[in-house]
This record gives sequence, C-alpha cells and structure tokens, in this order.
Amino acid sequence: MSKKKILITMVGLGAVGLAFPVINLLVGAPTNTTLSRKAKAHPELAPVVHMLESKCANCHTAEPKLPFYASLPLVKGIVQADITKGRRYFDMVEDLLPEKSGAPAEVALAKIEREINEGAMPPGKYIALHWDARVGASDKDALLGWVKQMRVKHYAPKALPQPLREAAVHPLPRSVKVNTAKAELGRQLYNDKRLSEDDTLSCASCHDLAKGGTDQVVVSTGIRGQKGGINSPTTFNSGFQFKQFWDGRAATLQDQAAGPPLNPVEMGSSWPKIITKLKADAVFSEAFTKVYVEGFTDKTITDAIAEFERTLLTPDSPFDQHLRGKKDALNAQQQQGWALFQSKGCQTCHVGKLLGGQSFEEMGRTADYFAQRGKKVTADDAGRYNVTKKARDKHRFKVPTLRNVALTFPYFHDGFATTLDAAVKIMAKVQSDLDLTDAEVKSLVAFLGSLNGVYQGKQL
Ligand code: HEC
Ligand code: HEC
Ligand code: HEC
Repeated sequence: MSKKKILITMVGLGAVGLAFPVINLLVGAPTNTTLSRKAKAHPELAPVVHMLESKCANCHTAEPKLPFYASLPLVKGIVQADITKGRRYFDMVEDLLPEKSGAPAEVALAKIEREINEGAMPPGKYIALHWDARVGASDKDALLGWVKQMRVKHYAPKALPQPLREAAVHPLPRSVKVNTAKAELGRQLYNDKRLSEDDTLSCASCHDLAKGGTDQVVVSTGIRGQKGGINSPTTFNSGFQFKQFWDGRAATLQDQAAGPPLNPVEMGSSWPKIITKLKADAVFSEAFTKVYVEGFTDKTITDAIAEFERTLLTPDSPFDQHLRGKKDALNAQQQQGWALFQSKGCQTCHVGKLLGGQSFEEMGRTADYFAQRGKKVTADDAGRYNVTKKARDKHRFKVPTLRNVALTFPYFHDGFATTLDAAVKIMAKVQSDLDLTDAEVKSLVAFLGSLNGVYQGKQL
C-alpha cells in the first residue's frame, strides 16, 4: 500500500470512529426517565439525579435513549446485552428507590460506591462512544460524598464517630427500645409448644437461641415429622431486616409471626385452637391481660412475639469491637479476611449493621448455581418471584445476615452448603465470578467467625 492510501485509510477510519461519539453528543443524554420522575418524591436524590440519569440511565432504567445506529444488526446485539445485564444487576429505579418515598436503599448506595471507586462505570466501551458520560473527579466526589451523607442520615447508629457512620458496614447497636412487659410475654410465647396443633413444637424448636437462632439442619421438621422445603434462618437480630422470610413475603416481624402457627407443615394449628389452650392457663391469662387488656387475639399474640424478637440482639462481637476501635479485637487472619470482604465486594450485598438483610439479590449472577447444585429445582428456589411474579425476581432471595454465621449452618436457602468454607467459595464464584484461593477462603471464614456476638452476657 502506498503512503497515500494508508493516510486515506487512517483518516477514513478516524472519521468513522469520530462519527459515533459526535452523533451521540448530538443525540444527547437521557432525560425525563422514570428515575427523575420518581425522584420528585425523593428530594434527597436531587444533588445526584441529573448525573445518574444522564450518565447511567441508558443501561440501568427501562428507557434507554439510543442513537439510530443502535438498531443496526451487529450494534444492536452489543448494546442490548449491556442494557439487559446492567438492569439485571442494578435497576436504578427499583433498586435505588424501592419505596414510594423515603431514603435511597442502603444496598444501592454500597453498590454505587463500589462501582465509582473502582472506576468501573460506565463501562469503557460506552465512554468511548459517549464522551459526556465519563464520571470525572468532581462527579466522583459529589457521588461518593452523597452516598456517605445518606448513610449518616438514614442508616448509621447515631452514637458512632463520623467516619464509622459513613462506612458501608456498621456495628450492631447494643440495645433497642422495647416494651419489656410485652417482650417478656413474647419470650414465653416463643417457647410455648401450645402454639402448635399437637403441642410438640414452639418457635424455639426451629429457632433455638442455643443454636444461633436456627435448628442447624438442612430443612426444618414440622408437626408429625413433616419436612419443610427451605432452610430456617436465624431470629437473632431479625428486627433490623427490611423484610422477613427468604422471599420477603412478610413486611414485619408481627406479620411473620402469624405464619408458622397456621402453616400446615410447621405448627399446623389455628387461632381459635391456640387461644382456647392459652385461655385455659389461668396464670398466663392473667399476666397477659394485664398488659394486653383485649386479651388473646392473633394480633396481641404476634405483637408480643415480635416485641420479644426485637430484644434478640447480639452486639459486641469481636468485629464490632474492632470497628469501635479496640486494637487487638481481631487477629491478623481475621483482619485480612475483613480486608478481602471489602476488596472482593461482599459488602455491597452484605451491608449495614447486619451484613445483609436489606435487599433481594439473584442467587447465581455470574454462574448458574442451580445447575451446579445438581439437585432438582423446587418451587422454593424461585425465591422472590413467588411473591411478585416478575421475571427479574426469579431466584432472588433476601440476602441473609452474616451475624453469628458460624453458628447458622448449613447455608443458603436450600441448606446446600454444609460448611462456611464451601459457602464462601460458592458465593465468590456465582455472585462475582471470582475463584478464591484456599488462603483467601480461610481468611474470609476467620473473619466471619468474628461476627459471633454476645447475647445475655454470653459470647455466642
Ligand atoms: C453501557 C451500559 C452501562 C452504563 C451507561 C452504566 N452501566 Fe452500570 N452496569 C452495566 C453492566 C453491563 C453491569 C453488570 C456488571 C458488569 O458487567 O460489570 C453494570 C453494573 C452496575 C452496578 C451493579 C454492580 C454490582 O456488582 O452489583 C452498579 C451499581 C452500576 N452498574 C452503576 C452504574 C452507574 C452509577 C453508572 C453511571 C455513572 C452506570 N452504572 C452506567 C452497564 C452500564
Ligand atoms: C417447623 C420449623 C419452624 C417453626 C416451628 C417456626 N419457624 Fe420460623 N422459620 C422457619 C423456616 C423454615 C423459615 C424460612 C421460611 C421462608 O423463608 O420461607 C422461618 C422464618 C422465620 C423468620 C424470618 C427470618 C428471616 O431472616 O427472614 C422469623 C422471624 C421466624 N421464622 C420466626 C418464627 C417465630 C416467631 C415462630 C413461632 C411463632 C416460628 N418462626 C416458628 C421454621 C420454623
Ligand atoms: C450480589 C449480592 C451478593 C454478593 C456480592 C455476595 N453475596 Fe453472599 N449472599 C447473597 C445471597 C442472595 C445469599 C443467599 C443465597 C441463597 O440462599 O440462595 C448469600 C449468602 C451468603 C452466605 C450464606 C449465609 C447463610 O446464612 O446462609 C455467606 C456465608 C455469604 N453469602 C458470604 C459472602 C461472601 C464472603 C461474599 C464475598 C466474596 C458474598 N457473600 C458476596 C448475596 C451476595
């Protein structure tokens, strides 16, 4: 090729290369998407909504604003793959503003913080075509500062020093306000087998406080030896979760407590039967009506149980002591584990005081967990989908808390992982496509062991 031809080819390629970004500049960034419309009910989003909409909405909301060439055959495939994957991971409307009004979601804040810190968003190939979508230094500062401000305002326990309040993970509060008379009645009911049809099971049978608030078996056994379909989560610290059950079908602890007594494969009873049995107990009846003048009803019974569950706190774990500044609270391996937990992005889903319990996430984002598991896929495996029937919610589960996780084996909604080593390894692979080394797994497991807290003065 002559020099002239090479020059013409280079200029030609350069012109084509330039044409796309220039077209994109002319097309402009997305505006007036559901994000900014919904943000009107969330005034706190104001400082960042324009940035998020113009730089991120194309792949993270339902209304991408694309140039004409995005519908060309080859380009369409690439663009669509990014949009589909982007929204599967993070829907900026559903995940950032899940409620009609109120605070931006804690998990969304952690995920945005990580992506911005890593300089991972928007993806490089998108910036190559959309010069104005780059997140510059001042955008970065604004976004990260806003994330911290939201945490301090909405999620951090008040009595902590400022840097701690700005972080993704917080120590557990040492106490919460409860009505102690109601909680005491709830404690008795929690341990009362009369809540089951044949007087064989109490809440404590499947949520034993001596076993980390669980039963430590793959699936629980209900009345008459019936096996359930899903692993029993811990009741410790459950009051801090955004919703109850793996699929979030109960909004509050009180709603949740109405489930098991009537569930045919759990306690299999009915409120009239339960109330008749409790009323026959003169001593307990008198104590109960002193606090609840209306006496035994489904509402008062579940209210008392929920009040008791709010007292099931396990603060002051070695990890909490470390966060609060105690120098030797964690050994070297546990500290390495905590560093890995953050550098591998575990805290984006396992966030806040509970290291979990604040969002639904897909089990198997980067690898098909259910195919790997080998066991038949059950109705329970559909997770959040069973409640919403939305395709995006298939295999989404509430992220479990990691508090006292060394005691809450076996792991996952199906109890499939019998050891913490296995759970950690699987997590890294199926959520973030990471192959951890054995040493990394050991450090992470050592760190998770530091999350056992103190209940009633005893180290769990
Ligand atoms: C070209 C499309 C595109 C744009 C624009 C884009 N993203 Fe993404 N985003 C993706 C894809 C694809 C993923 C899935 C993960 C991956 O491939 O890295 C993702 C994942 C994410 C996640 C979830 C990460 C996780 O691990 O859960 C967050 C948070 C995120 N993006 C934030 C942003 C923010 C903030 C912006 C704007 C500053 C942005 N994205 C712009 C495509 C995009
Ligand atoms: C037969 C065993 C069994 C009994 C009895 C039982 N549970 Fe459960 N509990 C489970 C299982 C299994 C789940 C998970 C079910 C799901 O998510 O679909 C669960 C879930 C919960 C949750 C939600 C925790 C979370 O992280 O989402 C709470 C709270 C709870 N139970 C409290 C109670 C209370 C209070 C009682 C007594 C009224 C009770 N349970 C009786 C087995 C049992
Ligand atoms: C994208 C969100 C996400 C990320 C990132 C993530 N997890 Fe998870 N984690 C989950 C969900 C969802 C479950 C429950 C899955 C199920 O039961 O099917 C879970 C479960 C677990 C469990 C089992 C807890 C129990 O009680 O059953 C452990 C342990 C765990 N994760 C540790 C980690 C570690 C360590 C990392 C980082 C390497 C990590 N996770 C990253 C979402 C996430």
